[in-house]
Amino acid sequence: MGNRPGYSRVSARYRGSPARGSPARESAARKGPAPERPPKESPRTPRHARRCPERAERLRARARKIDRIVSDSAHAPDAPDSAPVPRSPRPKGEPRFPDGPKADPAGSHFERRIRSFQPRRSRVTTGQADALQRLWPKWGLDIDGSRTLDLSELFGNARPVVLEIGFGMGEATAQMGADDPDTNILAVDVHTPGQGNLLNLADRYGLSNIRVANGDAIILLREMLTPDALDGLRVYFPDPWPKKRHHKRRLIQPEFLTLAATRLRPGALVHCATDWEPYAEQMLEVLTAHPHFENTQPDGGYAPRPAFRPVTRFEGQGLDKGHVVNDLLFRRVPHQQPTTGA
Ligand SMILES: C[S@@+](CC[C@H](N)C(=O)[O-])C[C@H]1O[C@@H](n2cnc3c(N)ncnc32)[C@H](O)[C@@H]1O
Repeated sequence: MGNRPGYSRVSARYRGSPARGSPARESAARKGPAPERPPKESPRTPRHARRCPERAERLRARARKIDRIVSDSAHAPDAPDSAPVPRSPRPKGEPRFPDGPKADPAGSHFERRIRSFQPRRSRVTTGQADALQRLWPKWGLDIDGSRTLDLSELFGNARPVVLEIGFGMGEATAQMGADDPDTNILAVDVHTPGQGNLLNLADRYGLSNIRVANGDAIILLREMLTPDALDGLRVYFPDPWPKKRHHKRRLIQPEFLTLAATRLRPGALVHCATDWEPYAEQMLEVLTAHPHFENTQPDGGYAPRPAFRPVTRFEGQGLDKGHVVNDLLFRRVPHQQPTTGA
């Protein structure tokens, strides 16, 4: 290959130093070590500012001023609600809401190994925190498993009570409470922001037929409700636990239905809905097979969606993804009389 000047120039640049024996290398050796260069400007300094030191100084002064304004407004006493509130560390064991729901109402005494819910750490808004503090003593209930509930006392009347397990953010619950003031709704979930939201809605719309329970519905059913206490059970869009190894965490299982059946009076309706078809199939299978329930549908299949069930938040998300929603409506059959021998 001939000596092409262009080629040797490029290769020398890639090697980082002039080619051995090249004129550039010899002249560098004659000059001695290169003088020290001034430190490079930060790459974030705009190129025009690098060329003009006065302009760079002006830009730096402006950045310092903006920093000062931002930090002053964050600490101002009248900072808007939306400004992030710095988390103050809570001493260990101190409740998050002194008059609100407890973090673990049942404690380890009623610890269940398999849970149908996923503990979530979600942000509680100022409005929700205010509702939890203000309204929990009036309409809230911790599921601590320590006593049986007198539902007439809890609601202040003897109207029928339906239990809703897993109300999420509670919009559908509030809607049902408003549409049917003659039915009391005992709404249970572990989700603190949802509890605050539902209390807020109940307060805003004057829904005195809703009580908000905090904790595991299984402990509520097992330890705190008396036989035949409930006139209905609603489970809308329970966590689907799609992975096979998590199926054991699904709420609607034969053991759960056996427990629920003891708390439901004969004729009470169990209403489930899900947008996860394999779970809908499981619900239909276990409810159909359970001796204490019968399908309200003559064909033994899914029910048309009853007009009283509003579209829930999770349902909306499922519909957006093109999921099919199935409702199931089963009835608690009358208690079986013990058979006596002839
Ligand atoms: C997928 S969300 C559905 C919420 C709401 N029904 C909706 O459709 O928008 C299921 C809810 O059930 C609650 N949950 C699941 N198992 C529960 C249990 N054993 N006790 C109380 N809440 C439970 C979860 O915390 C969650 O908020």
